Amino acid sequence: MLADARKDRAWQMIDLQHDERSRQLFALALNRYVQTTLAEGSRLTCERVVDTDFIDTEINTDASRSQLRRRIEAEPLHQYWLAMMQIWQDLLWRYCGEVVERQLDDLVETCRPGPADRGSLRLDPALQLPTYQSAVDNHSFPGGYHTETRPNDVRQGAVYALSAEVYLLEQTGARHDYRGQTLIGHILGRFPDFTPQRILDLGCLCGASTAAYCEQFPDAEIHAIDTSAPALRFGHGMAEERGLAIHFSQQNAEVPDFDAGYFDLIVSHALFHETSYAAFPKVLGECFRLLRPGGITAHVEVPARIEVMSPWEYLRSSYEGFHNQEPFWNALTSYDWVAAADAAGFAQAAQGFQRTLADGRRDADPATFLPVGQGKLDLSNWFVMSAVKPG
Ligand SMILES: C[S@@+](CC[C@H](N)C(=O)[O-])C[C@H]1O[C@@H](n2cnc3c(N)ncnc32)[C@H](O)[C@@H]1O
Repeated sequence: MLADARKDRAWQMIDLQHDERSRQLFALALNRYVQTTLAEGSRLTCERVVDTDFIDTEINTDASRSQLRRRIEAEPLHQYWLAMMQIWQDLLWRYCGEVVERQLDDLVETCRPGPADRGSLRLDPALQLPTYQSAVDNHSFPGGYHTETRPNDVRQGAVYALSAEVYLLEQTGARHDYRGQTLIGHILGRFPDFTPQRILDLGCLCGASTAAYCEQFPDAEIHAIDTSAPALRFGHGMAEERGLAIHFSQQNAEVPDFDAGYFDLIVSHALFHETSYAAFPKVLGECFRLLRPGGITAHVEVPARIEVMSPWEYLRSSYEGFHNQEPFWNALTSYDWVAAADAAGFAQAAQGFQRTLADGRRDADPATFLPVGQGKLDLSNWFVMSAVKPG
């Protein structure tokens, strides 16, 4: 498996030694144990508590959700599971951080923009981070996306990219572009004749999902924005390494500086759960402004919807919001994306679950887009909303 893991890596910028990969695979194995065996203990405890305490299992109001969470968090087995969820993840951050630290000088040099670049990198050192970013380290990632400790720092981008690669190694492939592939599958299924010439990816981080658009639409001009300079630097380096022309810029998706009507397609991949109630309509409003008439916006999000969760699944999901520094996660589980798209002026807005595509497979079958009620809280599907700018 170790040999396969090395062979399948789509980019080789980060050198990995045998023992380093072994430590990562240990963290991954611990994750599996925590998410299956230990989680089952917590799930059974939840079922018992719900039965004996006559807790409302509808979990359709803030009060019922809060009652369930408070009650189960008093249970030692559940507390143990919560603690282990933090511990395996801390280990993965640490193990990936050590790998990057060892070769940081080289990575900084490799990622520097150069005259032969196919894409570009535009940074804005004066950018003000939105509070929902500056107040937390999303996903309990030490230092968050933005910490910089040296000139031209790429550390946070490299650590995140490596951790993401490890986390889903056996599920969706080391390229970690499955969110992009999944959303492309959705777009092709819903709008089969659509061939965008100018594409914008919001909240691109290191551009892992953006890369899928370069492959699917090789003639398109592709832009990608994020607030994190280390992620954009590393993303630029990675894209150049792979020969992909992506134009990265450091911008807040609430106030991007592109001209109105410039884009045919605006997408995001797991951006919105890291924003806020106030930011959501602003970002969607900017999508509307930046699209040409007839342009399409499409967004893929974590498959955590209150409509499809059992009580224990709600507890599993809400862990991210209450314990893992993802403050908007829980609010988004019941957010009406179609209403927000309608309010922004879009037409044909639809939301649902899109079957996950990975490893270069793109599937234009509209039947892979399921109604919200038929989704699942697992990575076999992702929540998607897409809409068209009328005109
Ligand atoms: C989970 S990561 C996205 C991962 C990436 N799209 C992918 O598929 O690999 C969320 C990203 O959204 C970015 N982000 C959050 N709020 C933002 C905003 N207002 N403007 C731009 N980027 C934002 C964060 O900096 C972070 O990089």
